[in-house]
Amino acid sequence: MKKIKVFAPASIANLGCGFDIMGMALDEVGDVLEMTLDEEGSGISIANDTDVPLPQDAEDNVITPVIRKFFALTGHTGRVQVRILKKIYPGSGIGSSAASSAAAAFGINELFGAPLSEEDVVVCAMEGENLASGGYHADNAAPAVMGGITLIRGYEPLDIIKLPVPGNLYCPVIHPHLTVSTKEARSILPREIPMHTAITQWGNVGGLVAGLCTGNIELVGRAMRDAVAEPYRKHFIPGFDELRAKLLGAGALAMNISGSGPSVFALANRSDIAQRVGAIMERHFAQQGILSETYVVKVSNKGARLIA
Ligand code: HSE
Repeated sequence: MKKIKVFAPASIANLGCGFDIMGMALDEVGDVLEMTLDEEGSGISIANDTDVPLPQDAEDNVITPVIRKFFALTGHTGRVQVRILKKIYPGSGIGSSAASSAAAAFGINELFGAPLSEEDVVVCAMEGENLASGGYHADNAAPAVMGGITLIRGYEPLDIIKLPVPGNLYCPVIHPHLTVSTKEARSILPREIPMHTAITQWGNVGGLVAGLCTGNIELVGRAMRDAVAEPYRKHFIPGFDELRAKLLGAGALAMNISGSGPSVFALANRSDIAQRVGAIMERHFAQQGILSETYVVKVSNKGARLIA
């Protein structure tokens, strides 16, 4: 029997313009799993030791298809027991399903002596994302496994590029208690976009990558704009445009929906600005009677990891 404890971070997908292809890992916030392997047995069991409501049946938990994919890719077998010790609230928009999936994928790979590459660990984690939202996207799973800011250059074949993280990138994130499922937030998007929208979007993606590679945070902020999904999704978030105006007025470099929402994140190049922006976000939702949690964190270069 082998036992480990793993952590995988929360993450922000899309980064404005990078719909389904960009994401970044956050410091401190994330999921913790304890995983036990008995190589002689078979089967997967999952216990939830948190007060976050999760599916009772292991078949409905994102962890199960992740572990099965690992077995399918490696040919290994065994009995795996998972205890969920810490859990980001599902539906928060900061990569809750990806954090569990990444922790499970990283953990099972570690339990067997790390036969898979980091990229194949992401492939396993994507099985959890598929169960959660009906699509094989890696924009949360890649940063949750690898840390930092990741770009999915292509899905077929999977080509993940880790981008440099400027040192002074602060990220206030607010999770307003509104219900927006990723499935619903995807279903309202048009299947096709006009050419001028595509031109705006790929100009911004290029600008964002250039800004990160050169450490030009003003350019990062200017490019972190979404012409594709935000016009449809912002209506889920009360006072979205007004909130952005307030945050930019307080010195934030950008504000966007985190993944498919309802969380919203901003960017700042100084800790004091990030704290101020976080407080304004909190007040914005409180004034509308909406409960929320705020995190003011740095972007983290560390992804899934062993903690015991
Ligand atoms: N990129 C996804 C979306 C969310 O915006 O629907 C998280 O993977």
